[in-house]
Formats: sequence, structure tokens, C-alpha cells
Amino acid sequence: GKANRTNWVCSDCGYTDGQWWGMCRACESVGTMKRYSAGESDEGPAVQRTWLPQKPEEVQPVRLLEVNKGMKQLDWRIPLSGLFGNEVARVLGGGLVPGSLVLIGGDPGVGKSTLLLQMAAIIADVHDLGEPSPVVYVSGEESVEQIGNRADRMMIATEELFLYSSTDIEDIVEKVQPLSPRALIIDSIQTVYLRGVAGSAGGLMQVKECTSALLRFAKKTNIPVLLAGHVTKSGDIAGPRVLEHIVDAVLYMEVVYYESLLILTKWPELGLYMGEKFSSYRLLRSVKNRFGSTDELGVFEMSQLGLQAVSNPSKIFLSEQHSDSEFLAGLAVAVIMDGSRSFLIEIQALCVSGSTVSRHVNGIQASRADMIISAIFLNVVSGVALTETAGDLAVAAAICSSFLEFPIPNGIAFIGEIGLGGELRMVSRMEKRVSTVAKLGYRKCIVPKSAEKSLATLGFEQMEFIGCKNLKEVINVVF
Ligand code: TYD
Ligand code: MG
Repeated sequence: GKANRTNWVCSDCGYTDGQWWGMCRACESVGTMKRYSAGESDEGPAVQRTWLPQKPEEVQPVRLLEVNKGMKQLDWRIPLSGLFGNEVARVLGGGLVPGSLVLIGGDPGVGKSTLLLQMAAIIADVHDLGEPSPVVYVSGEESVEQIGNRADRMMIATEELFLYSSTDIEDIVEKVQPLSPRALIIDSIQTVYLRGVAGSAGGLMQVKECTSALLRFAKKTNIPVLLAGHVTKSGDIAGPRVLEHIVDAVLYMEVVYYESLLILTKWPELGLYMGEKFSSYRLLRSVKNRFGSTDELGVFEMSQLGLQAVSNPSKIFLSEQHSDSEFLAGLAVAVIMDGSRSFLIEIQALCVSGSTVSRHVNGIQASRADMIISAIFLNVVSGVALTETAGDLAVAAAICSSFLEFPIPNGIAFIGEIGLGGELRMVSRMEKRVSTVAKLGYRKCIVPKSAEKSLATLGFEQMEFIGCKNLKEVINVVF
């Protein structure tokens, strides 16, 4: 009889209301309340499902001293090592906190399932905890045979690792709880559903309610739960932003890739070629952590055996960067942000010596080069698919390097926008960009003068910031 009941759901925070409001009454976003019909469900989305039987004593107020009794291991964490070294534990703030709910987000194919399967095996085998004990890896995407095959290829043969294929949260919890596992892995949150909640798996209400249910499960049992979550395009109401509010920690996995932008300049014509070089490197970044600091960054390499910690990222990246000797000159690195993710873009400029160009190459004055480059640059920018002006400076530096046939020394990254007069301008999220290049082994960063002071106080010890007012200063500093 209540089949046509309509709810309004905020696409930002998931707040649900029985009537429409111009703005979300929970997060105060404007225009985010979307109509949501309960459809086939009698109960509607507002009904909270607590399948776990609550014991009467649990619903009484409890004396503080009672609560803290037996919780002396309050800051105790499950260590994680194996192929990861200490990287995953570090990103988590020192290990996995019992009873915590952790979301591992990332694009499809980035390696979430791989990471979680490895974590499952490692947790089951942790020796500090006495005998190995069960960890359950539940997949709603693959059969146990498929997961088994994958584990086999990764040489995982952990005795206490249990695999289960299911999409029904109640079924999962019922089957898992009797095993009293050290951890529960759910791959992925978009494939599971809770009976009695409206909508299909992956929809906003399901994703939200399933996550809340798993949070209650984790808190009640003290069993940590790890969730894989596909990153959906912004605007998708089942996006992970809804989950970020509910879970204790959010780690995002990103592919590190070099995008090569080959700029062929044959004065006055310009040609641009884009090419992508995906690397096997992955970054794991903590964007929320109730038990540790955020913006921790781990670097991994995807191998036949799964993810392995990269202990010295600088070596790998710098050698890769300059392996192609043909383009030694004309190569510069920019840092581009896409949402919360940061990418390195390797820009390759190649000034083809035409009759006009060659006359200018020898004995060029810095001021002259400055002017020419600004001119080239202006023409280039309109045609480039660089979505951000933060890459301006690297494009200019690459062209300059090619033009002067002078390679840019190893380990320098460029961050900044260039104005019409050649002046360098600040860009957003300097700190994030800088932390990425620092983590990847770059030791010098050319930045707008106005950013130099604040960046220097941030404590990137191995990073030197060189603030420049304009392109001319950049040329003087670098070449
Ligand atoms: P996967 O963990 O399935 O990604 P996600 O769960 O985020 O969608 O990883 C998929 C990719 O990783 C796939 O292209 C194969 C590759 N891979 C390896 O290179 N080595 C391995 O040991 C494994 C398991 C996967
Ligand atoms: Mg997967």
C-alpha cells in the first residue's frame, strides 16, 4: 500500500527526508535533494535494519570505567608486513585498528582486490597475535574458484584464509560471525545489498545502509572490516563521498602514470601529440583516518605476486624519466590534480630545427628566449588537452629546454601557471602536488615566488623550493 512513497535523498551526504527542501538539512548543500521512490519495498529506505540481536545490557548506559576496563589495548593495531614492508600499515596510521571500518577506493582495475587479498592473507598470518586465525574474504564480484586462482597465481597459500562469494549482507554476517575472524573483507560495497532496503545493489540507499550495517558489525564484534569501493564519476549518487562520512578511514589507490606530451614546434607551426605511459606503480593515499593522520602516501609496484612496497621510489622514477636519451633535452615534469588525485605529466617538447628556428638557436639571449617561448607558449596552450593551468610552467620549461638544447637536470618538477606577461601565478592545492613529487623522489620544485615561503614551512625536508617571479627567472635558475 505504501509503494508510492517518495523520499528525498541528498546526493552529497545521503541525508533522507520525507519532503523536499531547497537545501539539504544535514550538509546544507543546495540543489542536491533528489527524488527517490521507495518502489517495490514496503519498508522504504528509511527503515534501519539491525539484524544483529541486541542484548539487553548493551542498550543501557554504561559507566565510563566499565567501558574502559579490558580496553587496555585501545591503541593496539594489527601489524601488516609481507610484500608491503611497512607501507600499508604506515598509510593506515601504524596498522589496522580492531573494530574499524576501512574503505579502499579506486578506479576499476587499479588493484583494490589484489591489495585486499594480500592484506587478508597477511592478517591471517600475523605472528604477534599467536596462532594464525581466520580472515574471511567475501567477494560479490567473483566466484571462490576465481579468487582461488588469483591467490594461486600470487602464491598465496594461507591456511586460515577463507573465501566466500555472496552479495547478501545478512547472509555474509551470519556465515562469518561463527568463525570469529581477525578481519572481514568485502569486495565490493557496490555489489552487496541489505534485504528490505529499497533499490538495487550499488544504489545510494543500498551502499549507505550496507556500509552502516558493516560499521555496526565492526563496532560490536571488534572485527575490522575492509571495503573495496569503486570510484564513480562525480555526481553519481552512489559515489564514495557518501561512504566517506560513515567509515573510519578512507584510502584511495591511484595509478601513477606519465603522460607524455610531445610538442613539435616548427616555427611558427606547432604540432602536439599526446601519449600515455601507464606505469606499474600505485599510490595509496589516506584521505580520512579517525586513527591517524591523513595525506599519508605509500608507493607500490604491481607485480606478478601482487603489490610490493617500493622502498626507494626516487631511483625508479628518475631513471624511468630519463631513459629515453633522444629526448633528454626538452623534457619537464608537471603535477596535475584530478579531483583528489594527482598525476605526474612528463612533457616532452621537441623544437624541430626549421630554417627560421636554427638562426635563433645559437647565441640566443635569455631575454629573447623568454619572449619567444612566451609566444610559443601562448600558441601551444590553446591546443593542449592539459586540463589545468598548473602545467603551464612545465610546458614552457620543456619547450625552453628543447630550444636551448639543454636538458633539465634530474629531479626537478615544475608547478605554476603563466600569465600573459610571463609572470608565474599560484595554483590551487600546492601542498598536495608538492607532497606527491616529494614522495616520488623529486628534490627540487620550481614554484611561483608567492608560494615559496609557505611551502618552505611545511617541513618537506628533502625538497628545495625555488620561487620565481617570471619565466625569465626560471630560465636563469634552471639553464
Ligand atoms: P584488481 O585487484 O582486480 O583491481 P580492482 O579490484 O581495483 O578492480 O587488479 C586488476 C589488475 O591488476 C589486472 O589488470 C591484473 C593486475 N594484476 C597484476 O598485475 N598482478 C597480480 O598479481 C594481480 C592479482 C593482478
Ligand atoms: Mg576488484
